[in-house]
Amino acid sequence: MNSLQSFLAVSPVAAKPASSASASISGARVAPSTSRRGRISACLAAEAPPPPTSGAGARKPRRELSAASLAVIEDEARYLVGTYNRSRVVIDGGRGCKLYDLDGHEYLDMASGIAVTALGHGDPDLHATISQQSGTLIHASNVQYTKPQVELAKRLVHSCFADRAFFCNSGTEANEAAIKFSRKYQLVANPDSDAPPFEFLAFDNCFHGRTMGSVALTSKSQYREPFAPVMPGGNFVEYGNLEEAKKVIQSGRLAAVFVEPVQGEGGIHSATQEFLQGLREACDEAGTLLVFDEVQCGLGRTGYLWAHEAYGVAPDIMTIAKPLANGIPVGAVLVKEKVNAAISYGDHGTTFGGGPLACKAALTVFDKIHKPDFLAEVSKKGEDFKQLLRAKLSGNPHVKEVRGVGLIVGIELDVPAGPLVDACLDAGVIVLTAGKGNVVRLVPPLIISEKELEQAADVIRDCLPALDVATS
Ligand SMILES: Cc1ncc(COP(=O)(O)O)c(C=O)c1O
Repeated sequence: MNSLQSFLAVSPVAAKPASSASASISGARVAPSTSRRGRISACLAAEAPPPPTSGAGARKPRRELSAASLAVIEDEARYLVGTYNRSRVVIDGGRGCKLYDLDGHEYLDMASGIAVTALGHGDPDLHATISQQSGTLIHASNVQYTKPQVELAKRLVHSCFADRAFFCNSGTEANEAAIKFSRKYQLVANPDSDAPPFEFLAFDNCFHGRTMGSVALTSKSQYREPFAPVMPGGNFVEYGNLEEAKKVIQSGRLAAVFVEPVQGEGGIHSATQEFLQGLREACDEAGTLLVFDEVQCGLGRTGYLWAHEAYGVAPDIMTIAKPLANGIPVGAVLVKEKVNAAISYGDHGTTFGGGPLACKAALTVFDKIHKPDFLAEVSKKGEDFKQLLRAKLSGNPHVKEVRGVGLIVGIELDVPAGPLVDACLDAGVIVLTAGKGNVVRLVPPLIISEKELEQAADVIRDCLPALDVATS
């Protein structure tokens, strides 16, 4: 049992929507087995467009790459900046929780991009929204008003602690804006000070993004050091160590504390209620802002609309992005009125952020995910999946722990997870790594069926011997 689960087991503030007895998920329709590949796709959307048919004719045995796939891989190596060490698979289409490569192989998607496609692939309502909006208005600048942006702000603000929203295009941009808003807040809150608090506190294993501000608050030194000097003022203490955190907060040097209620990239670690509550109190005493980064764990991923709801602790600022428009780039910063009051026209801005296409798509996503029945299903599936994994993987000496909350689940190993991830890919299941490369990260579409989760657990179990081959 992890820290959040222990908390949930005892705390009355963790009010959960009642788990729906029905197995159906609102918004996800079950279709008969009409896949052109002849397999049952339990979360296949009935009206979704068919998967692309550009695959190379006759189906190859799994993982033998066609000339068409090899050409893409070779061109990537020739023309793209080498920032990604990619898996050797060319993704060409998707439907429900299945992905298809250029050679016609089918994969069960246990990654959702990286925790992005919460509604899976080819959701018919999202498809209709995007088609309709793209024929009406794709872009308008923030010099004018657009209805979808204002509607989305209203919907998000009414869903949580916040009073105002600012839209951008990604998680790192959302954190970058939160950094600027925090500094401006401190400038306005300390009018007589020559040096208002400008530093930040973040935590070991955290990930807040790749731009110069966000990366300065990202703990892995390999992401920061090659680009030094990054934004000054970043401090790190152990995630969960309230006493150390308090010492830094009480120094009075901080503009804000950035924390993920559930760390994703860092290895699937959940905060405790005491930790977040303690940060809240220390920040209030010191006049420091508390920022929750829910870019990965927010919007239904944990079985709560917002991950922090489980703790009964609210931040001053929350950043969100990944699943907000199911893959159309959009991020948001949600703030309390006191933060908004410090922001003036021209303090921040963006060309693309809050555009009508992304906001319309986000409205469709939000309207599906925020429903209590949908969230209850995520919780139930997450619990069942963890139990299944524990039952199927227990006894393997490499498996140290299965943890997580809702459908953000980690399997910690005593060895690097890479060989297992590769073996799963070869067996038709896409999973991710996290932590120091020793954690398998499972963040499937939230619409995934119990049957597909069982399939994933079986494949992971069957692929575990890859870890022995790699270590022998
Ligand atoms: C918690 C968290 N914050 C911020 C980011 C950065 O988001 P993006 O890649 O959209 O810039 C990520 C990305 O993985 C994340 O997990």
